[in-house]
Amino acid sequence: MSVRFFHIAGKKQETARNALSHSCRALASSIQHNTWALPTSLLITGASQLLTLRGRGPRRGAALANLGIIRNGALLVRDGWITAVGTRPEIEALPEAAAAEKLDLGGRVVLPGFVDSHTHLIHAASRAEEYELKIAGASYEEIARKGGGILNSVKKLRAATSEALKQRARRALTQFAGYGTTTIEAKSGYGLDVMSELKILRLHKELAAEQPLDIVSTFLGAHVVPAEYRGSSAGVNSYMALLTQKLIPEVAEEKLAEFNDVFCDRGAFTREQAQQILEAGRGEGLVPRLHAEQLTHTGATQLAVKLGAASCDHLEKINASDIAALAKSQTVATLLPGCDFHLGLQKYAPARKLIDAGCIVALATDYNPGTSPTMSMPMILSLACSQLRMTPAEAITSATINGAYALRREKGLGSLGVGKLADLAVFEVADYREIPYYFGMNTCWLTMKRGVVVHAADKAKT
Ligand code: NIG
Ligand code: FE
Repeated sequence: MSVRFFHIAGKKQETARNALSHSCRALASSIQHNTWALPTSLLITGASQLLTLRGRGPRRGAALANLGIIRNGALLVRDGWITAVGTRPEIEALPEAAAAEKLDLGGRVVLPGFVDSHTHLIHAASRAEEYELKIAGASYEEIARKGGGILNSVKKLRAATSEALKQRARRALTQFAGYGTTTIEAKSGYGLDVMSELKILRLHKELAAEQPLDIVSTFLGAHVVPAEYRGSSAGVNSYMALLTQKLIPEVAEEKLAEFNDVFCDRGAFTREQAQQILEAGRGEGLVPRLHAEQLTHTGATQLAVKLGAASCDHLEKINASDIAALAKSQTVATLLPGCDFHLGLQKYAPARKLIDAGCIVALATDYNPGTSPTMSMPMILSLACSQLRMTPAEAITSATINGAYALRREKGLGSLGVGKLADLAVFEVADYREIPYYFGMNTCWLTMKRGVVVHAADKAKT
C-alpha cells in the first residue's frame, strides 16, 4: 500500500475538498517512494513523543497518567492496522520496514486519534439566539420551559430535509477530523417522533459508510417529551409507550443503534421512567447509557451502575455515595466540561474526586447546539486541565482509551499497539502537555484513520 489521502465527494464540499487536497499534495511530496520493491506497508517515523497508551483495559486512578511514551518513536502500518510499534532504530531494523512507504513526522507528537464518546451530531441549526438570552441571564431551564432548548432544535430538525442534515453533519465530521478525532458516538434525540428519529439514525449509518470516521450510533428518543405529548400524564405515558413498544423494537430490528440513552433530569425523564426505557432497550440488545446528574441530582448514576450502563455522562451534581458506587463499577464517568463552559456555569463535575476514588473517567465534547457547540477535543482537554484540574496526561487518557472503553471499542481503538487500528492524531507541538496548554487554537497537524490521512494542515513546504 501507499500513503492514502481521503477526498470528500460532493459539490457543496468544494471548499473543504480544495483545502484538503492542497494540503495533502503538499504532504505527499514529502513522502519518499521506494522504487525497488513493491511497498506493502507504511513506515511512520519522526515522532518525538509517541503516546502509545499501551496497557490493559480502561484506566483508573494513578494509571490514568500513564501514557506509555516512546521517544523517537516509529510505527509500521499495513492495511489500516498497526503491525509494529517501538523506537525508530527498532522499527527501522525490521525486514518489513525496508520496503515500506515512508512518512516522516518531523519530530511532532503522536497520539491515538481521539474517541469522542458523546455527541449529538445530527441537528439542523445552531441556537445562537438562545446564547444571547443566556448571556443576558436566562438559565438553560428557563429557556427550555418557554419552548426553547431541545424543543427548539426538534422543531428545526423536523422541518429540515435529510439532505440538509447530512450536509451539515458532513461538515462537522470534517472538522472533528481536523481536531484529531477519529471516532465519534452520535445520538439521535432531536426528532422525537418515529419518522424523524429513524431519519437521524439512518443518517448515522449512511454517514458512517461514506466518510472515514467511525460513527457509533446511540438512540436518544428519551431526550425530552415532545411538545405534542405534554400537558397530561396520559400524554407522557403514551410517549413512553411509543418509545418502549414501537421505537426501541424498530431501532433494534433495523440495527440502527448499539446504545440507548436517556436524559434523566428535571424537565426530562424521571429515574423510574429512565429505568423502564433502558430496560426495554436492554431487552432488545441495546446497551444503556445515561445523561446523569447534569442540572439536578436524580439518582441516575446509581441507576446506571445498577443496570451496568456503559457510561453515565455529565455528573456536575453527583454526590459522594454515587462516586463510591461508580468507582466499584465498570460504568464510565464521562465528563463534558464544554457544557459548563458554554453555559457559563461555575460548577464543573468533581473530576479529582472521581479519579481519586478510582472511577473510569472519560472526556467528550457533547457536541450539540444547546450546551456545547464545539467539535474540538483539544479545547475539551484545555477545560479539563484548567477547570477540572486534571493533568494533561489524565486528560489525554480520558479522551482516548477510556473514551474507547465507554463505546466498548477498546480492543481496537484508543491506544497504539500491534493489532490496533492505525488511527493517529499528530500535533505540531514539542511536548504533549502543549496540546491542552494552547487553548482555543488548533495544533493538530495530521489525522490518520485506518492508515488513511483524513486531515493534513498545510505545513509542509512544497
Ligand atoms: O448533553 N442534556 C441534555 N442534552 C444535551 C443538550 C441538548 C440541547 O440543549 O440541545 C446535553 O447537554
Ligand atoms: Fe449530551
